[in-house]
Amino acid sequence: MSRIATLEIDGKKYEFPIVEGTENEIAIDIKSLRGSTGGITTLDPGYKNTGSCESAITFLNGEKGVLRYRGYSIEELAEKANFLEVAYLLIFGELPTRAQLDKFHSDIKAQSHVDEDVKKILDGFPKSAHPMGVLSSLTSALVAFNPSSVNVDSEEDMYNAIVRILAKFPVLTAWAYRKRAGLPLDYGDDSLGYVDNFLKMMFKKPNGEYASDKKVVDALDKLLILHADHEQNCSTSTVRIVGSSHAGLFASLSAGINALWGPLHGGANQAVIEMLEAIKEDGGDTKKFMAKAKDKEDPFRLMGFGHRVYKNFDPRAKIIKKSADEVLESLGIQDEVLDIAKGLEREALEDSYFVDRKLYPNVDFYSGIIYRALGIPVEMFTPMFALGRLPGWIAQWREMRLRKEPIGRPRQVYIGETQRSFKPIENR
Ligand code: ACO
Repeated sequence: MSRIATLEIDGKKYEFPIVEGTENEIAIDIKSLRGSTGGITTLDPGYKNTGSCESAITFLNGEKGVLRYRGYSIEELAEKANFLEVAYLLIFGELPTRAQLDKFHSDIKAQSHVDEDVKKILDGFPKSAHPMGVLSSLTSALVAFNPSSVNVDSEEDMYNAIVRILAKFPVLTAWAYRKRAGLPLDYGDDSLGYVDNFLKMMFKKPNGEYASDKKVVDALDKLLILHADHEQNCSTSTVRIVGSSHAGLFASLSAGINALWGPLHGGANQAVIEMLEAIKEDGGDTKKFMAKAKDKEDPFRLMGFGHRVYKNFDPRAKIIKKSADEVLESLGIQDEVLDIAKGLEREALEDSYFVDRKLYPNVDFYSGIIYRALGIPVEMFTPMFALGRLPGWIAQWREMRLRKEPIGRPRQVYIGETQRSFKPIENR
């Protein structure tokens, strides 16, 4: 029997259907609210209670710490799959067969060149530019180099656009780094795997050979999988809403990159390591920084703690913490900052301020430590997140277009001046 929610306003009752997801999540379908009530709207800043779409890509349960891509647990995928398999799964809905994966990879390789003129744009940026700004600009520039719009009714067109961006984005990410590092640009090597090739494009010295290191490739592969999708977060919602105006895939992705850059979102991984470094420089007194984080007069927040939806634990943080230990050990790296991170986590988990507010380490608390161990500089942490999140953004954009979702256009409650007469400038 279908369930109904009843809303009563000034004695008048309105009924709305209840929608139930496959994981028994229930939502009140308010599509008819404004029409049936004569223009009453809802108010939900930050969309904390608002479902913007129905989606079959990622399921997460913040209370239970569950994260699944297309039904597969993040723990299992991080252990058994590689990043390209996960990308295929997210975008097309099923794990690829060997033949499908091989074709996907070879189609990507066939598109992994970037127009030489893009280098001229890159040349125009100052060396000091943050790579996230460079990356979003270059992704936007790809629109100009690939002007034909994607016919979303053609699976082939859609596939080609997806493969093109999956191929070119790692090149742009590596180039953003090399520009900053003063290194000549590198085009990679098609004989390498997707992640290995990215590492080559990042680190190949002009006067030396690139030697791939399985431990490093595996660690990065896992990090990218953990970041690959996270349902309707800030950057993904941005990609969907920009795409809902039928702006193209690359333009929507560029907007998503900018949304990810903010320190409350993807920029947190950089902010975490900077915070841990600052604590180290200050003598390593974690208690002092815990007190600052709790002080409402102090704007300082414990970066890498808290999450909009995980109010128990972030399952990705558990995997990453273990991985940080393994990577540092296998690469023979001693990092004082890891000890500071573990100390902070221990103290926070016993502190009523953090416990009461359900603030736990999030995925970014330990990811920076691994990136650092892999030789990735701090300003590249958020671009690495973008590289990982790319398949998720693509999958969400594709789903939104295939479901023919309407243009995103929230309402508001106006709280400004009511109508008033214009005053000539001499009377103001
Ligand atoms: N340090 C100290 N206090 C915190 C922190 C923190 N990191 N996070 C939340 N709080 C406190 C708030 O001050 C607030 O306290 P109050 O109830 O006394 O006013 C309470 O916890 C709830 O915080 P909100 O900001 O309302 O929680 P929200 O769900 O809106 O924000 C967010 C989540 C943005 C992640 C927040 O916890 C935060 O700023 N964390 C630090 C930044 C960070 O690590 N971001 C990465 C997120 S994960 C990702 O994007 C991959």
